[in-house]
Amino acid sequence: MAFSYLKTHLQKRREDALLRERQLVSQHSSCHISVAGKTYLNFASNDYLGFAADALKNNELTQLGSHSSPLVTGYTQAAHDLESYLCNKLGYESALLFNSGFSANSSVLKALFQDQQVAQQSMMFHDKLNHASLIDGGLNSQAAMVRFNHNDMKHLTARLQKSKATNKLIISEGVFSMDGDSAPIAELYAIANEHNAWLMIDDAHGFGVQGEQGLGSCEQIKPQLLVITFGKAVASSGACVLASKEVIDYMLQYNRDYIYSTGMSPLIAQHTLVRLQQIYSQQGDQRRQKLANNITLFQQLAAEYKIAVMPSNSAIQPIVLGCAEQTLMVANKLKQQGIWLSAIRPPTVPFNTARLRITLTAAHDKNDIERLVNELVNAL
Ligand SMILES: Cc1ncc(COP(=O)(O)O)c(C=O)c1O
Repeated sequence: MAFSYLKTHLQKRREDALLRERQLVSQHSSCHISVAGKTYLNFASNDYLGFAADALKNNELTQLGSHSSPLVTGYTQAAHDLESYLCNKLGYESALLFNSGFSANSSVLKALFQDQQVAQQSMMFHDKLNHASLIDGGLNSQAAMVRFNHNDMKHLTARLQKSKATNKLIISEGVFSMDGDSAPIAELYAIANEHNAWLMIDDAHGFGVQGEQGLGSCEQIKPQLLVITFGKAVASSGACVLASKEVIDYMLQYNRDYIYSTGMSPLIAQHTLVRLQQIYSQQGDQRRQKLANNITLFQQLAAEYKIAVMPSNSAIQPIVLGCAEQTLMVANKLKQQGIWLSAIRPPTVPFNTARLRITLTAAHDKNDIERLVNELVNAL
């Protein structure tokens, strides 16, 4: 029967405890969510600084539509202001806004290596744990792609030494989304320089949170391509690619997601800029400090109760259980006790590394974290 494979594939996912389902969230605050009439303490949000629940005091937030592609009539003053702010703050010549981080990552790689002749002399070097959007961009480009073991600089160096490509691009996340650990940005940058390569960092989980000033994993070092997203610590949505003017001018010619898609809504652009001003104010500093305190408290309690958390100093604190079925079972047990967190299973993470992904935010308080650890002790 035509398309009968749909049923078979769904059935197989269900049997393997890998079926993905959406949950309708009726209410969100920074650290609570309501699903199907029940309210949970939320440890699954990427709203690291707890700004999502704050109302914005800005009367100018009125215009919703950008009307068309930025290359037609969709490049608004709000988008321009946001790009300029980010260029100044992060030290880049030029920037482009995208409606999502997925689109930014995948389209930038596709565009960078869109010319078949150029692609033949080009090679991408991906960290093995890179986000799906980076992998898809690489696969959809014309250039060759190799992967190096996660954060393994020796392996990366060996791969670079073997390569005869003229245009080499090393690609990594700043803070890894499923493991919570950080890439060695300074080392990556030095290795890139040594091998005449460029560096691209996707700092979706570092921007706003990491660094002395909260500028992210690349506060000190400027990779040739930096992608930041607004859906996590910025509590908005969309993304920005920062680079030299030449790279951005090239993207304006060849980046199909940018050229053939409606520009970011001015409402989102203005909202994002106001959020960024908050994030880089004293209020932002206080929230980063509160988040850091929460991370330390969670790690101390986890160590005390012998809960094996992965080595991570970020807001993402994963507990690897291995088996997908068991991970789902523990997450469901926690749900019964009013704790909401994600059971992350393959293919999002490698086989036999299913995990509970705990995300801490500045909106949690001491009691919330103590309750989480108590419930973890009971459920594990
Ligand atoms: C590391 C990383 N990069 C990119 C993205 C995609 O960003 P967005 O949600 O804005 O599409 C995500 C995910 O959510 C992510 O975790």
